[in-house]
Amino acid sequence: MLDIKIEKTTNPKPIPGPEDPLVFGTIFTDHMYVMEYCPEKGWHDPAIMPYQPISLAPSAMVFHYGQEMFEGLKAYKTEDGRILLFRPDKNAERANNSNRRLMIPEIDPEDFINAVKTIVEVDQAWIPTKPGTSLYVRPFVIATDPFLGVRPSNTYKFIIILSPVGAYYPEGLNPVKIWIEDKYVRAVRGGIGEAKTGGNYVASLAAQIKAHDEGYSQVLWLDGVERKYIEEVGAMNIFFKINGTVVTPVLNGSILPGVTRDTCIALCKEWGLPVEERRVSVEELEAAAKDGSLEEVWGTGTAAVISPVGHLRYEDDVFQIGDGGIGQISQKLYDTVTGIQLGKVEDKYGWTVE
Ligand code: COI
Repeated sequence: MLDIKIEKTTNPKPIPGPEDPLVFGTIFTDHMYVMEYCPEKGWHDPAIMPYQPISLAPSAMVFHYGQEMFEGLKAYKTEDGRILLFRPDKNAERANNSNRRLMIPEIDPEDFINAVKTIVEVDQAWIPTKPGTSLYVRPFVIATDPFLGVRPSNTYKFIIILSPVGAYYPEGLNPVKIWIEDKYVRAVRGGIGEAKTGGNYVASLAAQIKAHDEGYSQVLWLDGVERKYIEEVGAMNIFFKINGTVVTPVLNGSILPGVTRDTCIALCKEWGLPVEERRVSVEELEAAAKDGSLEEVWGTGTAAVISPVGHLRYEDDVFQIGDGGIGQISQKLYDTVTGIQLGKVEDKYGWTVE
């Protein structure tokens, strides 16, 4: 494992207090982690330094061809003062799956996890403790060669920044309204949909703005080929409870393999609920909504945690889910997942790392 050089800031910023609003992704801590890559040295010289702008050539490849990978995880402070990360090994593994797809050199998972642990330890005073808050950790890699030809970059930076956050959606745990998109697509199988990379998010913006203008929080994507099967929400994976069975789209290459998705599948199985990972068509959803068997819908994500869905819209049809309120399983998942993350619920699976 590489040694991390640490240079602390001499000019610390004020840390938000419990009464300050923590709008997702708007405040950044005092420090950042940076590690460089070049073919001669591989990943080298990891350092923690004061949070600051980075200097890149305008020709840096990331600006032109989007060669970048990012991750998202959270750190929590328990009532007895311990600091917990939730399943960082899954992020390290997924980062390398994305890196391979994007032709970015892999990062030793030990270095990835050690980097996250060290930067969180340095900025631990920034971990908020009010219910519903946490310290969001954003690791990312960018391609830095100053070059306009299309090929993988030879040089990269791996950076980690931290942001104290509240709920991702302004609705908090209140149900969100979701727009099932029938014109644009997010990803296709064989593309980059299962990699965590900016391109998948920029592809979502036009539909997201359209949906926002119509009063919907997020877009639920259909598959890019038949435009018939449900995929994911971009910021979240999606779950349905249909006639007592928990159903979520099977990972097919164009869906992001969410850590919270995996966590929810394990918990639902533990609770004795039948869980099916399979193709779910929009027709099936419409029929289930009409005959009353669509009992609950919720999204799962690191930023979003568990986000109940109260309404779905597809073409000209709007379906209310149940009574439009928070479903029983969504609430139980939220309480259990956040309980484990905060060290209040027994961590039977060893998901938390101190
Ligand atoms: C996360 O949940 O960590 C993500 O990266 C999703 C992003 C839209 C905030």
